[in-house]
Parts: sequence; structure tokens; C-alpha cells
Amino acid sequence: MSKEIIINSDLHGPSFPGDLTILAIESSCDETSASVCVNGKILSNFIANQTVHEQYGGVVPELASRAHMQQIVPVVDAALKNAGCTLKNIDAIAFTQSPGLIGSLLVGGQFAKSLALALDKPLIPVHHMQAHVLANLIDDPKPGFPFLCLTVSGGHTQIVLCESPVNMKVIGETMDDAAGEAFDKSAKLLGLPYPGGPLIDKYAQQGNANRFTFPEPKMEGLDFSFSGLKTSILYFLKNAGKSNLFKSEFTATETEKQEFIKNNLPDICASIQQRIVTILLNKLKKASLETGITDICLAGGVSANSGLRKSFEEMGKSYHWNTFIPAFQYCTDNAGMIAITGYYKYGAGQFADLSVSSTARAAW
Ligand code: KG4
Ligand code: ZN
Repeated sequence: MSKEIIINSDLHGPSFPGDLTILAIESSCDETSASVCVNGKILSNFIANQTVHEQYGGVVPELASRAHMQQIVPVVDAALKNAGCTLKNIDAIAFTQSPGLIGSLLVGGQFAKSLALALDKPLIPVHHMQAHVLANLIDDPKPGFPFLCLTVSGGHTQIVLCESPVNMKVIGETMDDAAGEAFDKSAKLLGLPYPGGPLIDKYAQQGNANRFTFPEPKMEGLDFSFSGLKTSILYFLKNAGKSNLFKSEFTATETEKQEFIKNNLPDICASIQQRIVTILLNKLKKASLETGITDICLAGGVSANSGLRKSFEEMGKSYHWNTFIPAFQYCTDNAGMIAITGYYKYGAGQFADLSVSSTARAAW
């Protein structure tokens, strides 16, 4: 049974008689994570990464599901212990229902349902992308409503208008690759291992971002496109930086290409990163100007990018925004963000029964 709760009018969290303890589980892709949240405060956020995918240059769904199966029990156990509690303290179980890899989602979903059944506690299904947005409500200072959030991950790139913790809509999104994919695919073209985003970030910090110019896609409205950037990098490397045009007189040999990459890696990374960052921030600026909203957040794995964080803060100063970025551990996939979303959904009475199923795609 769920506890009786009263919603605060400012929607900054429910108040209730006694503590509300939520156990949350995240398993949408290649991180197995569990978190315990008491009254909207995250007490533990345990994340087990899967290194098995590195050798394949991307996440292998079947291997991800198997790794979740191995990790889920020890990860939940560690999260409970880190929070200093046991299953007896748990009032509700939140889990990532969608979107994600179906085999991965099913492991966390079935585990959550089994626990809910065994403990006779309410079950709270959570949308992974909404949880990325609400990661901004974990620590103080928190954004006021309505706020805008640029959510940038390996699978998604969205501008979300968040009116309350349980009422948000996507007002812009990518038409092809996600920003994280743009980083990872560019890194792959440079011969860097998966996931290449953090490596591009690392090399970019020593490079000159103005050395090479990559085209900015012409996209109407608040939507994004990154596939053209990938193609321009491909051609740029094919002619060893002689031109970033699609057609060039010169085609480098494989050795020349590798030499060019080796000698110019920091500048290439800095220039690619700068282009991805300007594509993202130009749309975010447009969204703020169009909506008049000035509480602006970042979320998702790519918000760990140092170039994006710096330019975001600079843009915030220029346009008098209140800017928010979750702590690093809440940017990449984690159960802390599922727990905080579960907390607000509990307040709104948004529970599911045991017939709820995981889905790879989901509407908002
Ligand atoms: O949100 P996330 O952990 O997982 C998904 O839901 O996709 O995001 C993972 C993505 C990957 O594409 C990874 O390369 C990218 O975030 N990423 C970065 C950085 N750290 C993670 N991209 C650029 N710079 C970083 N520092
Ligand atoms: Zn994610």
C-alpha cells in the first residue's frame, strides 16, 4: 500500500507523515544501477559499468542483458548497504520502464516487479529521458518551474520544457544522430575506442578549436541534425585535412591519413567538439528566446563534456540565465535520477500494477 502524502503547492516535493524511502533501479543500456532515496534526498547511487563492450566499439545488447543479470543483485544490495537500510525500510520501488534496450530494461523491470510483489509495495515506472531531466532536482540549487533542459545522451538529443516534475514536453529533438553518437562516431573515425566522447573531450582540452571548420547544419526550428557533421569529418579525414568539402581533388593514402590524425589529434578533437557544442547551444538559445524561459538545465551523459559545460555557463552569463548542471554522477546513466523521479511520481500517485511491461520506445 502507498503512504498518504500531501503535495506542496510549489511542487518542490511532497511532505508526508513519516519517511518515504524509495529503492530505484536503472538498467536501460549498459549501466546497472540502484539508488536509495529518503524524502527526496539521495542516500546512495551505486553504478556498475560494463567494460565488456569496449572491444566491440559499441554496446552489444545481448551482452548487456547478461551483464545486468549478473550485476543486479549485488548492485541493489550495495545500494541498500550504502544507504544504511534494508528491504524492510523500502516504501516503493521505482524502475526504468523505457526507452532503452529491451533485454536490458527487462532485467531491471522484472527484478523491480518481483520485489514489489514480494514486499507488497507500490511500483513506479519511470521514463529514462524524463529522469535525466529531473536529475536537476537532486541537489540544491534547483531550477524553478517552468525550466528548459537540454538533454544530451548517447541515444537522445532533446530540448525539454518542464512545467512540473510530472508535466514536461519535448520542444526540439534530433532528426538523426544524437549528440553522444556524433561524439562517438567522430571518435571512431579517428580510431579512438568506444565510448569516444570522453576521449574527444580529453584531447580537445589541449587543442585549437578554430584550426578546422566543420559545417553547421541548416535545421529549421528547434530540431537538430548531426549526420552531416559525421559525413564532413569522414571526407575531411579522407583527404587528410586538405579540405572539408565533400568533393576534393586529393585523396590521402591510409598512411597519410593516419599521420595526419596522429599529428593533429588535439586540434581535430577541439574543432569537432566546438562544432557539436555550437549546434547544441544555438538551438538552446533560440528555445530560451522563443519561450522567455531563463532557468536552463543540462542533462545526460554528454553534459559531462567540459567544452559544453564551459560554453553553456558563458552563454548563461551573456543571456542572464540561471544555469543548472547535475553533479557528474547524475549526468551519465544512474539510478539516482530514477529515484528522484520516482519520488515525484509517488507524490502525484503515478503507480503501475504488476502487469506493467518494459518497452524499448515510449511516448512522453
Ligand atoms: O546518458 P548516457 O550515459 O547514456 C545514454 O543514455 O546514452 O550518455 C552516454 C553518452 C556517450 O555517447 C558518451 O560518449 C557521452 O555520453 N559522453 C561524453 C562525455 N562523457 C560521456 N561525450 C562528450 N564528452 C564527454 N566528456
Ligand atoms: Zn541515459
